[in-house]
Amino acid sequence: MAEQTGGDPLFESHDPIFDRKELLHVGHVPDEDRIVGRDDEIQSVAAEVGAITRGDPPNNVMIYGKTGTGKSLISRHVATRAQDAAQGNDIDCGVLYVDCSEANTETRTTRQLALSLKEQTEYQQNIPLRGVGTMEYYQHIWSILGDCFDAVIVILDEIDKLDNSNVLMQLSRAREARKTDAYIGVIGISNKVQYRETLDERIDSSFGHRELFFHPYDASQLREIMRNREDAFQPAVLEDGTIELCAALAAKKHGDARKAIEILKEAGELARRIGSETVSEDHIQQAQEVAEINRIEELTSGATVHAKLALYALASCIITGERETYKTREVYERYVGICELVATDPITENGLYRQLKEQAFLGVIESEKTGGGRSQGSYLLHRLVTDPKHIVKAVRRDASLEELPTYDRLRETSPSTGNRDIDLTSFS
Ligand SMILES: Nc1ncnc2c1ncn2[C@@H]1O[C@H](COP(=O)(O)OP(=O)(O)O)[C@@H](O)[C@H]1O
Ligand SMILES: [Mg+2]
Repeated sequence: MAEQTGGDPLFESHDPIFDRKELLHVGHVPDEDRIVGRDDEIQSVAAEVGAITRGDPPNNVMIYGKTGTGKSLISRHVATRAQDAAQGNDIDCGVLYVDCSEANTETRTTRQLALSLKEQTEYQQNIPLRGVGTMEYYQHIWSILGDCFDAVIVILDEIDKLDNSNVLMQLSRAREARKTDAYIGVIGISNKVQYRETLDERIDSSFGHRELFFHPYDASQLREIMRNREDAFQPAVLEDGTIELCAALAAKKHGDARKAIEILKEAGELARRIGSETVSEDHIQQAQEVAEINRIEELTSGATVHAKLALYALASCIITGERETYKTREVYERYVGICELVATDPITENGLYRQLKEQAFLGVIESEKTGGGRSQGSYLLHRLVTDPKHIVKAVRRDASLEELPTYDRLRETSPSTGNRDIDLTSFS
């Protein structure tokens, strides 16, 4: 059957499903002709930082948009092209990229900026990895810029994760403050549009900047993005309709290109695991479920146990009941029963309400105010944005909550009883 590698039959020499799997890695930067539907965005970013290529001062720019809308890709793409164009005009332009979800403090960010500048030059001085503060890192940054560059484009990705905005201020004032002569163009990227308001509060006008908004992709764009990476697979492995289905699912959810590519990859892995020679629509469906559970787990990873229990409570109301929306009070009652199951002391109803609001912010649930007439007052109705089954699975992945009833177990409590005070303790 499968050929052998190095004579050891344990390892196949040839991957039956994937040919160039690297095309499906998140960090993969596709060639220009494989970038789909972002011409206007490329033009806009280029218009802001492009002055650098002519030896003029650039504008700073903030890019907002949901995950997987091509913000990181387009920023890197334009920055690299600007660097090449500058080179052509004898201008030394550096490109610096920092992922602020990892380098989430000013010290970490400045350290990384200094280190990658050093990497790009012949700078001889030692840059300590620890034991020094931002001041020293800034010193290195200014000296390298002064010695080696006419200009630099700094991409601060996921900038909303940064605990303060000092870096922005320092970079935008550097010339004025005579720290360096190099022009500095900052591209800041945030997945959260809400960051815009906090940014305005935190910085002053010296960080003058334009704003761009990237929109989710539609199904046909997602289809093309994936078609362009079809050669990640061996010929004829992808069955007809798989890319279309994958695009349709991703478009319906969030228009997120990253998720679309991930689902495609996951479906390939799945097919390989079960020894299938092709990737089918069924594999795509299964991969999409796994991806959705992963997404919820990611979204809730920073949330408290009570937030997770509250989500689980809402999901279980929906599964065992007959409605899609539930009042805070109803979710609370269910939550109290669930706390008993996992031997946890419940928080107050008001506390739970705040947890639910936080989840709404994460995009897992939607809450809608409903007027109950003058005498009744208004109340909130909560609904899940995703399949309750996925919530149950994601929450149960938390090791301390795996005792909670599974989705199938919840399903068994028939909605026909109409029993919303269902005794959840009977599950354990
Ligand atoms: N317009 C596009 N054309 C081709 N691939 C894209 C496009 N937009 C995004 N991708 C791919 O989708 C993934 C997510 O894109 P990314 O730029 O990281 O999104 P964001 O930074 O907005 O979360 C990456 O693998 C990227 O290469
Ligand atoms: Mg990104």
